[in-house]
Amino acid sequence: MTRKIFPIPLATPVALAPMSGITDLPFRQVVGRFGAGLLVSEMIASGEIVTARPTRRTASQARAEIGDFAATSVQIAGRDPDLMAQAARIAQDQGAPMVDINMGCPAKKVVGGASGSALMRDPDLALRLVDAVVAAVDVPVTLKMRLGWDAELLNAPLIARRAESAGIKMFTIHGRTRAQFYQGAADWRAIKPVVEAVSVPVIANGDITDAISARQALALSGAAGVMVGRGAQGRPWLLAQIAAELYGSQAPEVPSGAALADLVAEHYRMILEFYGPELGLRVARKHLGWYIDAAHGPADLRAMLMREKSAERVLAMLPAALSPQRNAA
Ligand SMILES: Cc1cc2nc3c(=O)[nH]c(=O)nc-3n(C[C@H](O)[C@H](O)[C@H](O)COP(=O)(O)O)c2cc1C
Repeated sequence: MTRKIFPIPLATPVALAPMSGITDLPFRQVVGRFGAGLLVSEMIASGEIVTARPTRRTASQARAEIGDFAATSVQIAGRDPDLMAQAARIAQDQGAPMVDINMGCPAKKVVGGASGSALMRDPDLALRLVDAVVAAVDVPVTLKMRLGWDAELLNAPLIARRAESAGIKMFTIHGRTRAQFYQGAADWRAIKPVVEAVSVPVIANGDITDAISARQALALSGAAGVMVGRGAQGRPWLLAQIAAELYGSQAPEVPSGAALADLVAEHYRMILEFYGPELGLRVARKHLGWYIDAAHGPADLRAMLMREKSAERVLAMLPAALSPQRNAA
């Protein structure tokens, strides 16, 4: 069996999935603090990153910031080989130790422009992008894709084999087709043909929400690691928990009560600082909602928090909002 070695050193093979609008720098910092093997930035549209003026802190630029967590990969998306090459170079210049190409996003906005998972229907264009990006940077380039376009076109193994020859150093496979969007269950077994097609590491992704599902995904796919997305929303310690159970790394202290309120307050302040008060307030809402859901906080306070426009009042409400709702006796 070929020995699978990650392109950059990873403390554990448990990665945070790129999620547009979610895995921004503040969230990655919080997840990284609990412990993670690899953090992947939100997808950055290659056109945006290339044209963003460096003096203006546009949202797209902000998303490209690496932070102080060494194992952070920046994901780029697009369909123009030149723009993708430039975007990869910018990411590298900003300190990204690894660049990931998005071939998995099913969004119409992205697919309509023939990028994201639409590239799986056009392997020749996909390979031109890979060639351009690999040639543009010195850091390892990785690729994230789905099983294929639909049940008829499960071509991830084929693309992976070609992309490996073109220099891709690691693959992440979301165990769904593009046609499935997020419906049905991720098919971890279907990732196995990709693992068998290449000699570089493959990470299994999709519906991994705890150590049990992580172990099962690894067993069925034969993958070298797991990537967790939605499961970490409101539970930034989840990756560290999975790693502790699977790989014996140090288990995180899962915060509750005052410690949880402190953590969420700090994350909240980081978001406001990062985006500014107006945009920050809106970006923060979804995270607050997930934290409250994970903590089984009271629904009425959750609803109030979602509407609240004053940061001070949000902070003041957090301890109560994050206290598990008592059953009305
Ligand atoms: C809101 C949202 C945004 C996402 N954005 C991206 C993205 O920018 N790039 C990408 O490759 N995948 C993106 N994904 C897909 C995730 O990385 C992941 O493949 C998918 O959510 C399945 O993993 P999970 O079940 O652990 O969430 C996104 C998913 C969600 C829910």
